[in-house]
Amino acid sequence: MRDVSETVGRVVAALDRVADTSLLWDRGLLNPGGPHRRLRGHMYPISIGEDECIVFGRLVERFRPRHCFIVGNAFGFSSAYIADVMHQHGGQSVTTLDNQSEGEGERIAGVAQALTDELGLAEILENCKGSSPDDIARVAKQTSYELVFIDGLHRHPQVTRDLHGVLPYCDAKSIVVFHDSWIVGVPEAVEEAKKLGFRCLWVPTSCEMILATRDEQVFSDLRATFAEGVEDRGRRSYVYGYLLYLREVLSFRMNSLLGRA
Ligand SMILES: C[S@@+](CC[C@H](N)C(=O)[O-])C[C@H]1O[C@@H](n2cnc3c(N)ncnc32)[C@H](O)[C@@H]1O
Repeated sequence: MRDVSETVGRVVAALDRVADTSLLWDRGLLNPGGPHRRLRGHMYPISIGEDECIVFGRLVERFRPRHCFIVGNAFGFSSAYIADVMHQHGGQSVTTLDNQSEGEGERIAGVAQALTDELGLAEILENCKGSSPDDIARVAKQTSYELVFIDGLHRHPQVTRDLHGVLPYCDAKSIVVFHDSWIVGVPEAVEEAKKLGFRCLWVPTSCEMILATRDEQVFSDLRATFAEGVEDRGRRSYVYGYLLYLREVLSFRMNSLLGRA
């Protein structure tokens, strides 16, 4: 069995063989971490950071999910990583749903599939085209997923819709992960989750992740696994998020002009 960090190296090496990517937020965006990736020359989509892969690795090692559902796949970095670690820990399936709406969607989905094939994960990882929440029922094959990752369109109320869309496929012990606590739509969805009985652990990764569950024992295990996590961290100002966004757009434009994007 590989160490969870070694698996990041394996996925990055496979991604480099199937696509040309560039790095951003090398040292993390909001907190130390990163780097994140995107296809070279394209502003979007942006993957989770390597440090955030490790969070999934630790989750999988500790909770051994059999089935995972992911909303928002882009070029497959997070799903390939999760599937690869799950494969080593008895996991059975990872299903992704992406409507190919960001960037050159079809080409990007092609990279996700090439990455799946390159890593030999086709038996465990199925990438589906479709929109959340409407197409969740069509592609979900399990009655319950132990691990759910919501990383689709970051807008309000879309993230809350994604949450409601996956809830019929969660049980009390399921862990729902949100990414990008600083973007409008995510804090609202986390608030909605709390109203629905979830306890939410904020983990200080590059873009910040929130791990949510309705089961007290699972929550207590999450706290033990992620000692750096905080339950009631409060909200970041959206002004801060917009400034970060603006900085990123300007830097991408500048690098494009200089041929370095
Ligand atoms: C931030 S990216 C996902 C990154 C991916 N999780 C990773 O780390 O490698 C967001 C993705 O969500 C997809 N998306 C946007 N709205 C969606 C929706 N309503 N349903 C499914 N996918 C959606 C976009 O096409 C894009 O590929």
